[in-house]
Amino acid sequence: LVPNASPKPKVFVSRRIPEKGFALLASECDVLSWNHEDPPPRKDYLTAVRGIQGLFCLLTDTIDAELLNEAGPSLRVVSTMSVGYDHIDVQECHKRNIQIGYTPGILTSATAELTVTLLLATSRRIKEGVKAVENGEWGTWKPMWLCGQGLEGATVGIVGLGRIGLAVAKRLKPFDIAQILYCGRSEKPSQALEVGAVFTSFEDLLTRSDFVIACCALTPETHHLFNATAFKQMKQTAIFINSSRGGIVNQDDLYEALKSGKIRAAGLDVTTPEPLPTDSPLLKLDNCLVLPHIGSATQSTREAMAVLAARNLLAGLQGKPMPCQIK
Ligand code: DGY
Repeated sequence: LVPNASPKPKVFVSRRIPEKGFALLASECDVLSWNHEDPPPRKDYLTAVRGIQGLFCLLTDTIDAELLNEAGPSLRVVSTMSVGYDHIDVQECHKRNIQIGYTPGILTSATAELTVTLLLATSRRIKEGVKAVENGEWGTWKPMWLCGQGLEGATVGIVGLGRIGLAVAKRLKPFDIAQILYCGRSEKPSQALEVGAVFTSFEDLLTRSDFVIACCALTPETHHLFNATAFKQMKQTAIFINSSRGGIVNQDDLYEALKSGKIRAAGLDVTTPEPLPTDSPLLKLDNCLVLPHIGSATQSTREAMAVLAARNLLAGLQGKPMPCQIK
């Protein structure tokens, strides 16, 4: 921990973050920062938040009643450098009149690009191909070797046509797909119109889609939404992609579905837990590609996220409207 005493509002930054965001905070606040790549151990986190007015946190930090109690009544703003906020107990914050900032919008393109990358890589069996080249299993050109599944003429099902779901749909349109289905809490007519997507039930989407892409937030309703029942409803040739949160998937059920051929393949940028232990059975499967939660990992996106999270924090501390606040 690197303390820096001054009369400015006291803020804790729970990790090393892009310089631009940090500089913004440092210009106006008394910043205490955990200047490391890895998160602080919980006990150090709890010590660091005592008496702060603002908290700059990441999606890996659990912001719950215990932590808020430890921070005490001085804490007025929690700002997360993420669009997802399932790691924050929103109700507990609101009970204490703590405002919460987040970073929607600016990471939409990067995350959509990565989602499409996962879809293409999984459908065209890139993991197996790279392995074969590296292991010397690449013999001659063979007519039936490593044949995957194309996107042309496919039905794509998007679970959650929010900002990222819509951006994924837009990026897939030029691949000459036949149809986009979507489901979610409510119909989104204007977004659907932009990409010609058709609203349907979760079950119908699972049954009809060649690609099922999870773009929904993790909530109590979506926790383990993708379980044995869901995988059973999908086509045997279906490919499942998840770039939102690992918690929406029952991973044991996914493993079983992939292993037994109930579905063809899966591409995951998010898992439970993160990092996924290297002995996870999912990693042994040729038809499962796992990435280390890098959806928003472009330099410009991460910098923009840090700056927006810093702006949210500063605005909240100054009693001004935050650029992006969770209501
Ligand atoms: C988020 O912001 O919630 C993503 O998961 C990481 O950028």
